[in-house]
Amino acid sequence: MQQTWLVVTEPEVVRELFARGPEAVDAGQANFHLRGNVRLRNTFLFDGSEHLDRRRLIAGRMRGRSMIANADHVTEAIDRMAESWPAGRRFAALPSVRRVTSDLMTHLVLGDPDADGNRAVRRALWDHPASDPGQLAVLDRAVFAEIARRRATGTNARAADCMSALLSARTNSGAMLADRDVRDEVISLMLAGAQKTTALLAWAIHELARDPVAQERLRAREPGFADRVITETLRLHPPHLTGRRLREPMSFDGHDLPAGAFLLVTPTTIHRRKDLYDDPKAFRPDRFDVGRKPPVGSWLPYGGGVRRCPGASLAHFEARLSLERIVDRFDVSASRRRRISVTPRTGAR
Ligand code: HEM
Repeated sequence: MQQTWLVVTEPEVVRELFARGPEAVDAGQANFHLRGNVRLRNTFLFDGSEHLDRRRLIAGRMRGRSMIANADHVTEAIDRMAESWPAGRRFAALPSVRRVTSDLMTHLVLGDPDADGNRAVRRALWDHPASDPGQLAVLDRAVFAEIARRRATGTNARAADCMSALLSARTNSGAMLADRDVRDEVISLMLAGAQKTTALLAWAIHELARDPVAQERLRAREPGFADRVITETLRLHPPHLTGRRLREPMSFDGHDLPAGAFLLVTPTTIHRRKDLYDDPKAFRPDRFDVGRKPPVGSWLPYGGGVRRCPGASLAHFEARLSLERIVDRFDVSASRRRRISVTPRTGAR
């Protein structure tokens, strides 16, 4: 079947598109085409009332209470990571960052990562490279085992983790979610959340390593500076795309589009437009100083409208604590390996 895809690079179109509600545009249908290893029955892929119900259920676990509950856990996880860093030697930060974010996502989605059943899930998540089906099977088994354990021993509906919320949820007709649905949601949340927060933290470390002054300002806790570092990192390196499918014919920016057309919002293209950002390739947190905000629709790493990422504040909060903790302990500097020959980065797979 022929499909119409459009790539959106105009902030004004982004603004209009994100303002459309679920009666006019679907996000789940569009995400389906971008889904990677996200599982089939979960918030990203639903539309309409099914989406709203599910989103309410999990988003409730990503607000204030969970964040505060998370704070000690974040600092402990970062301290453990920092202790493993070999000061004075060159090393790649990414693998250890992935461990920390896996740990934090396990905490959010399952509760205490050191509890017996959760530990197996966390380990499977640590070891999970981007899309290895073998590892995914290990993760599946660990999550199903934990669901079975909780079904047998009873779930605390008031616990702060997402799995407890899913296990105690009832549909309008009073039915429980099937184990497979709980599994799909839990795994998708952990993978998507961990991959994106890993990308954010790793890119922030990459940029800070080239900017000792920014590290000093972070260390001095200059008000608002950590937020600007994170905002600027997400501008330069947004880890995710956003898609929508039109439910009805619409026109944007003079283009008449049929129902069923897909619109792909690519933050990188917009975030690097010279007319929106001065010297767009440079890492300059101060461009987000109070009163100098970019126009609406030109900073969109978290998508927008009713589908805006519900994990945004949590990711931001974790990134801020982590970066402050890292610069408190280390001067981070980039290792500049001189390359004479250029080889394919992924090893010519
Ligand atoms: C730097 C970190 C993150 C970035 C950049 C990010 C980005 C995004 C983007 C672009 C979307 C699509 C929004 C749209 O269609 O308008 C999204 C959706 C979503 N994100 Fe995040 N995300 C991040 C972290 C997280 C975390 C930590 C969680 C929590 C576990 C999370 C959970 C979700 C969920 C459940 C959705 C689907 C929302 C819906 O369809 O209603 N994200 N995220």
